[in-house]
Amino acid sequence: MIPYRTQNLPATPTGIAQAADLLRQGLLVAFPTETVYGLGGDARNGQAVAAIYAAKGRPSFNPLIAHVASAEAAQRFVEWTDEAERLARAFWPGPLSLVLPLRAGHGVSSLVTAGLDTLAVRVPAHPAARALLEAVDGPVAAPSANPSGRISPTTADHVRAGLDGRISAILDDGPCGVGLESTIVGLTGQPALLRPGGVALDRIEAVLGKKLHHHSAGDPLTAPGQLQSHYAPDAPLRLNAAAPEGDEILLGFGPVECDMNLSRDGNLSEAAANLFACLHRLDQTARPIAVSPIPDHGLGAAINDRLRRAAAPRDT
Ligand code: TXA
Ligand code: MG
Repeated sequence: MIPYRTQNLPATPTGIAQAADLLRQGLLVAFPTETVYGLGGDARNGQAVAAIYAAKGRPSFNPLIAHVASAEAAQRFVEWTDEAERLARAFWPGPLSLVLPLRAGHGVSSLVTAGLDTLAVRVPAHPAARALLEAVDGPVAAPSANPSGRISPTTADHVRAGLDGRISAILDDGPCGVGLESTIVGLTGQPALLRPGGVALDRIEAVLGKKLHHHSAGDPLTAPGQLQSHYAPDAPLRLNAAAPEGDEILLGFGPVECDMNLSRDGNLSEAAANLFACLHRLDQTARPIAVSPIPDHGLGAAINDRLRRAAAPRDT
């Protein structure tokens, strides 16, 4: 791969216009969303999408989310349903992705969907992301802007640490507010939770007036990216730790004595926003990591999902 000089672009009108130009030329630009930084490429351009997989080292069976500026724009690419309409009205723009059947004439590269007949669509809330999507005026495929399997990026520095020289530019607008990826809901049959994330499950169920189906062991793999080992720091990670052992460094939650705290007040939104930045920093200490128990309700379910994958045995 020819190394790029990865430019830093400010999230000003000029910086956003430059980022949109690069995307229209088929080049890759990392950009902030309210969840994590995304690695954007034109979803209709097969070469741009192939370059996303190459820059991340991502397996080609793992499909990408198409980001668009509005629910109306999403409906150009997918078959819309009543449930999609209700969820979009309640949570878009925001940290929710919907998986729906592809619509005829959609024009999205088959690399985005990894050959599936469904597409994940999302309308992000971050002002710079919205301005960028409006300027591009087309679907932008964007996985999280980290090397495959590693910790997701919540700052431009995290993106640069993982992808410098592999992408054209990073649109920098400071740290991401939510800090966890979008919740993914499948709407191709009975509504199903494909990934817990930035919108808590009970809020989605309240809008739909029913429980979401949960992925269970016997099901076909419904979100192909939900691999057991993911978000992995170099150091080993031990969960539900009351206290550190040996050389461990403790990542705390609530009023515990520790080296670093996700939220001293036990606030789950604050903990979500801090999670990946804490893992990035702890990873630099090269010490094993212990993590305090995190309650499993609300955003805690998504935090625990990420921590379980970060602690899982690695493939390599
Ligand atoms: O918050 C987010 O969703 C961030 C920001 C950048 O928007 N993006 C993100 O993308 O987390 P990524 O690629 O890291 O995770 C996308 C997940 C993967 O687990 C993938 O398998 C699943 O979405 N996915 C994408 N398209 C799908 C589809 N058609 N059916 C089922 N799962 C799909
Ligand atoms: Mg990711």
